Amino acid sequence: MAEQSAEFVVVANRLPVDLEKLPDGTQRWKRSPGGLVTALEPMLRSREGAWVGWPGLADAEAEPFVEDGLTLHPVMLTSKDVEDYYEGFSNGTLWPLYHDVVAPPAFHRHWWQAYVRVNKRFAEAVAEVAAPNATVWIQDYQLQLLPAELRVLRPDLRIGFFLHIPFPPTELYQQLPWRKEIVEGLLGADLVGFHTPGGVRNFRWLATRFTDAKPGARNEVSYDGRTVKLGAFPISIDSAQLDELSRTPEVQQRAKEIRNDLGNPERVILGVDRLDYTKGIDVRLRAFEELLQEDRAGDTVMIQLATPSRERVEHYQTMRAGIEQSVGRINGTFARVGHPVLHYLHQALPRDELAAFFVAADVMLVTPLRDGMNLVAKEYVACRSDLGGVLVLSEFAGAAIELKESVLVNPHDTDGVKNALHQALTMPAAESRKRMKSLRRQVLSNDVDRWARSFLDALGLPS
Ligand code: ADP
Ligand code: F6P
Repeated sequence: MAEQSAEFVVVANRLPVDLEKLPDGTQRWKRSPGGLVTALEPMLRSREGAWVGWPGLADAEAEPFVEDGLTLHPVMLTSKDVEDYYEGFSNGTLWPLYHDVVAPPAFHRHWWQAYVRVNKRFAEAVAEVAAPNATVWIQDYQLQLLPAELRVLRPDLRIGFFLHIPFPPTELYQQLPWRKEIVEGLLGADLVGFHTPGGVRNFRWLATRFTDAKPGARNEVSYDGRTVKLGAFPISIDSAQLDELSRTPEVQQRAKEIRNDLGNPERVILGVDRLDYTKGIDVRLRAFEELLQEDRAGDTVMIQLATPSRERVEHYQTMRAGIEQSVGRINGTFARVGHPVLHYLHQALPRDELAAFFVAADVMLVTPLRDGMNLVAKEYVACRSDLGGVLVLSEFAGAAIELKESVLVNPHDTDGVKNALHQALTMPAAESRKRMKSLRRQVLSNDVDRWARSFLDALGLPS
């Protein structure tokens, strides 16, 4: 692709595909983990844009390439960058800080320096790719300095930024030694988007407290002679596509096979997450274990699917060990030979297989301690055209604002989660169908395309 020729550029820490090294030394591309890719990939493919990001492997130098009409521009990270910018500042400082410090964030100056260095590298990469006056849409917490860095290099660009994780309460954010620099970085954008109005309020307050930004009209600040718009844009999924996939005979048949493989229990409970300590996987295992102890679970089998994630970061290693210990303890106590009560797969599954699990599950347990949105909750709903199934959802997920007909729980309250799980397992069909109908109305009408259009409209991009 010629230099400075892309009219619409998405920038994210990761490309939508990851480079993987196979044991025989060869390499292949595979889908990247997480909700950001799920949400953005369909939207960007339909716009034939460019995507700038890291190929997911340290020291990998890859040339730009076109995949299904989408031009991918790899940005190289050295092993030191991965350690200090990605595992360190992004996932050891910002991730826990922005998720209500559910694990303690670490503040290291050399991590911060790497974050600055890598954000500048992304700015140079985007500046080379974007056409004059192009629109650039920057994604997520790993790239919060990029809006300002890019504006210096390319003042002609229209720059949007969207944060896929929660923006924290101001009291917590203020712990960050580089709080001013990050707010200034974000103010380089023309539009800064969050999932919820709470995020907008928190950021607006901090911008006027720590920088020269002045409050403007509602949801605006003026900064450096420009107006910076702020807004809440709850992200979603490609609902129609998932709805269609889940109705196919192959997926329906596979769902039956899954239940059959489980021994055709009366009830199946499902959890699907990246293996992350914010997701509250331990919370739901505890609730299930107590229901079993109290003999209130009935003929029920639970499945927990967990995509491997950030495996070299300490909090993740500790959490994984704890979960695997719980799985062993629960099965050790309650399984019979050939009939585990809990199935745990530490694997990423293909989309159609995942859809079959959603179709097979009577109860979907989504119990994060804090989550920006949680797309899994919406995916479950999109897969239930039969109006079957009950969604149990944490109040601390962004999705709880929209999915009000789910069974809402406080994940810090073990008794509450346990009782909600019991309620879901025993809910009369008429009630669960009514709830699912209303949830589906929400999820099918507010899809990812609508989300992207509302953000890009606010940014002033002609559709
Ligand atoms: P996050 O962005 O924090 O990972 P989300 O729930 O918003 O959380 O998005 C997670 C995405 O990853 C969803 O699209 C979900 O379907 C997918 N996913 C999670 N676990 C698995 C798994 N075991 N196999 C395949 N995809 C998974
Ligand atoms: O949405 C949160 C997020 O961190 C994305 O930015 C990211 O792509 C995804 O989860 C998966 O995380 P990681 O890229 O660290 O594997």
